[in-house]
Amino acid sequence: MIAFQSMTKEVVMPEEFIAGNPQKGAELVADCAACHGQNGIGLSSDWPNLAGQNQKYLYEQLKYFQSGQRENVLMTTVIDYLKILSDEDIRDIAAFYADKSSNIGAAKNDEELLALGSQLYKAGDFKRGIPSCSACHSIYGQGNNQAGFPAVNGQQKGYLVSTLKAYRSGQRNAGEYSKVMQAVSMNLTDRDIEALANYMHGLYE
Ligand code: HEC
Ligand code: HEC
Repeated sequence: MIAFQSMTKEVVMPEEFIAGNPQKGAELVADCAACHGQNGIGLSSDWPNLAGQNQKYLYEQLKYFQSGQRENVLMTTVIDYLKILSDEDIRDIAAFYADKSSNIGAAKNDEELLALGSQLYKAGDFKRGIPSCSACHSIYGQGNNQAGFPAVNGQQKGYLVSTLKAYRSGQRNAGEYSKVMQAVSMNLTDRDIEALANYMHGLYE
């Protein structure tokens, strides 16, 4: 808990973000639809939705993939393409997906799992050193636009599980913000992660 608190204090508020042009972005995403769908809804539970995601967050993650700081086997298929794009192109792609309507998923109706997910998401577990997720991702999971904290509502369940485990193991480590999530996920059990993923997948306002 102490480590986590000191880490969140170090988070520097980002500078003003320059928005991209979604119409231009639409012309740059043909290679992405095979996995992320025409409108940014992932075609598999393991592939993230990009629709309605925070624009600044999308931009930053694409820059991490472009530079090789964030790595994923499936995303390597588009790395050569990302490398020829300018920062402006990447902003436009981020704007294109941010503009789409986010997904509404349905949580598995397992009472015990839902209770655990809801409790951890909204309140965390102080004794186990788990902060509340809603503090940064908001109560309905839309994230925080100004801070560039990503939305998690309706996100694909398989992806939520794998990415939380990747933060926990330290494997997902691109950029300063990843350290926040490494500290957040440090004390989560596999069961906690399953419960949180189920809850976030079904979250909407
Ligand atoms: C072959 C499948 C595939 C293709 C094609 C693909 N992606 Fe991905 N993408 C993935 C997977 C899988 C992940 C999750 C990576 C991880 O777990 O770290 C991902 C992650 C992302 C993320 C990070 C999402 C998040 O919530 O952090 C962004 C942004 C992204 N992709 C954009 C794109 C764009 C833009 C293109 C086209 C230029 C593209 N992807 C093409 C499979 C793909
Ligand atoms: C202090 C703020 C903060 C708290 C508390 C927090 N998060 Fe995060 N979260 C972030 C930031 C910032 C990122 C972006 C990290 C990066 O760039 O890799 C993030 C990223 C994520 C992602 C990845 C999103 C994606 O599309 O890849 C998930 C999933 C997530 N958080 C879930 C949670 C859960 C579950 C909790 C509660 C147990 C939680 N977060 C608590 C700030 C926070």
